[in-house]
Amino acid sequence: MSHMSTALDEFADRLQEEINQDVIETYGQEVYKRWRHPRFSGLMENPSGYGRVTGSCGDTMEIFLRLENGVVSDASFTTDGCGCSAVCASVACELAIGKGPAPVSDITGEAILEVLGDLPEKDVHCAFLAAEALQASLKACMKPQES
Ligand code: FES
Repeated sequence: MSHMSTALDEFADRLQEEINQDVIETYGQEVYKRWRHPRFSGLMENPSGYGRVTGSCGDTMEIFLRLENGVVSDASFTTDGCGCSAVCASVACELAIGKGPAPVSDITGEAILEVLGDLPEKDVHCAFLAAEALQASLKACMKPQES
């Protein structure tokens, strides 16, 4: 039994290794790093605002922002989309944190792509979807609170 599970483990490890190599080859180190450990993933309790967008690919992304003293103190995301959408949303959060509304409003899909290096053509839209979710979230933060 233990014999079998070792063989299986080895097989799983080898498979994972091949997948990792594939991702590195196709997407580069920067995406790979974030794909393995996507930072800022998850829901946020009581955000200052959040945005939710569904892309033409059918994937839905949410970005949550917390603003404190005029700067983004925290950001997080969820996505039901491709691995690349998580990577792009994670970069959007990273770029927003520590910035005020004006610089956050300048964060575009291009800015996200710049961090990640060249993405395959089919994945470029994921960055624009992430930027769109970020902008929707910022807009929600800027809305006067209903009392
Ligand atoms: Fe839809 Fe990447 S394929 S966000």
